[in-house]
Amino acid sequence: MKRNFKNLPTGLRLMQDPTLNKGTAFSDAERDALGLRGLVPPHVQSIDDQVKRFLITYQKRSTDLERYIDLSSLQDRNETLYYHIITKNIVEMMPLIYTPTVGLACQRFGQIFRRSHGMYLSAKDRGHIAKVLSNWPRKDIRVIVVTDGERILGLGDLGANGMGIPIGKLALYTACAGIHPTQCLPVAIDVGTNNQALLDDPLYLGLHQRRVTGEAYDALVDEFVTAAAEAFPKALIQFEDFANHNAFRFLHKYRNRICTFNDDIQGTASVALAGIYSALRITGGRLRDQRLLFFGAGEAGTGVGELMVTALMADGLTEAEARKACWFVDSKGLVVKSRTDLTEQKRPFAQDHEPLKDPLAMIEALKPTALIGASGQPGTFTQAIIEATTRNAGRPIIFALSNPTSKAECTAAQAYAWSGGEAIFASGSPFAPVELNGKRFVPGQGNNAYIFPGVGLGILASGSRLVTDEMFLTAARRLAELVTETDLAKGRIYPSLKQIRDVSLSIAVAVARVAERSGLATETLPDDVRGAIKQLMYEPNYVSLV
Ligand code: NAI
Repeated sequence: MKRNFKNLPTGLRLMQDPTLNKGTAFSDAERDALGLRGLVPPHVQSIDDQVKRFLITYQKRSTDLERYIDLSSLQDRNETLYYHIITKNIVEMMPLIYTPTVGLACQRFGQIFRRSHGMYLSAKDRGHIAKVLSNWPRKDIRVIVVTDGERILGLGDLGANGMGIPIGKLALYTACAGIHPTQCLPVAIDVGTNNQALLDDPLYLGLHQRRVTGEAYDALVDEFVTAAAEAFPKALIQFEDFANHNAFRFLHKYRNRICTFNDDIQGTASVALAGIYSALRITGGRLRDQRLLFFGAGEAGTGVGELMVTALMADGLTEAEARKACWFVDSKGLVVKSRTDLTEQKRPFAQDHEPLKDPLAMIEALKPTALIGASGQPGTFTQAIIEATTRNAGRPIIFALSNPTSKAECTAAQAYAWSGGEAIFASGSPFAPVELNGKRFVPGQGNNAYIFPGVGLGILASGSRLVTDEMFLTAARRLAELVTETDLAKGRIYPSLKQIRDVSLSIAVAVARVAERSGLATETLPDDVRGAIKQLMYEPNYVSLV
């Protein structure tokens, strides 16, 4: 994206603008021309020197939360340096700016809050949302990530403290896919919280009231969607960490009206499907021969299930056959036809089977080849379950997708140990490599950070009017194709995060082509789509302001 440096602020105002600030790296010419002389120490530092200086304190921190605070303070001061550092150190820093540390940061949000970032729209703003949005200083917004804080990771209702999630996700849009930070807008819709501990906490920064629900809640979200689409007509709106009952409703309500998707449902589905495709390259199995047992039939679980059905049908099965391959367990047991308590999302997956509550009995009865955990319940994949699955499947696919780390259905070490090294394992939050019987296993991180930045970039580049399931299916295939034989030899079913910008670019190209083919693109794609999209990507380096 070309920047326009006309009407630059000068002096302290320039230094207080995190997008333009370079701190000690302002050149002599910039210091002379922009009224900065005397406001910064005389020695002009390079960005590399600034990185070194930042890392001295950062590396001495004793906790991840302190490192998170260092990083967000840097983001508030100097975005170029912040993105330069996290882009270069994405493997180490993604777990800080995103899961798992962001979960803790949200839980402590009221204590660690330094400076506002993004927009808070509260129930008090009802009737005036357009006016409030007009306070945002930037107009060319391309990606909005919005949460109402009701289901933050697997941590539940954190109210306005959930703002850490949109901030973190948008930081990944920039770091992983080069969407310019000025084009990103984090939004928290604060309708209150039912989390009593927060309501009792005088330092809680959100509305001290119980959640607004029903028509008033829907009207507020609707007002936001309408006002945002009006104020930022080119923006993609990503719904994030809404509670299950609202997430599906809003997806269905808005997906054919505006450019929107729900990452918990669709992004997770895409990354999980990519993981299955890669895992099958290790086991040599075919997708259509798999029997998948999902623990968790919520946003993430049924989202994966629906995309899996699409993928299975693309592999030659009928819809009925595809659904027969996907079995679900929720908090009440196996999802079967005789149950009368099933929600709309679960019903298409209800199977003709006797009700079962004991997970081990399910494994023996169904003989799954893959266990997909999206239950938010740690310890769900017990030793007995993993042993039984391995006995039946030989090389089981085991995905513990629940976030943060504390909620994973099992750890990487458990999956490898209990399967005798046979499991092909991935988790939502990162686990370190595991040594077992002299062999090193590298667990994959089945986190949608592999998917949404690239999908967003593809949408932005093509100007797609809508976001479709085909885009997520295509993204999954593309991601799986990028896994090398060397990755697979280590048991790694996703590319290294070090390549995330290339991965996002490849996904963006594929998604932009889907948009064009589907007649949804509003931008004309040139012959060299990849080159053109690469040109759009923000590189976090200083550019001369004079
Ligand atoms: P949700 O609340 O929509 O669904 C949770 C589901 O788990 C419900 O169906 C519930 O009945 C079921 N459940 C509860 N206890 C269970 C048990 N003991 N056994 C089997 N099922 C049980 O929540 P959502 O949005 O689906 O998220 C679930 C988890 O997945 C969270 O921890 C979340 O952080 C994680 N997630 C991970 C992502 C990733 O990229 N890896 C993306 C999205 C969500």
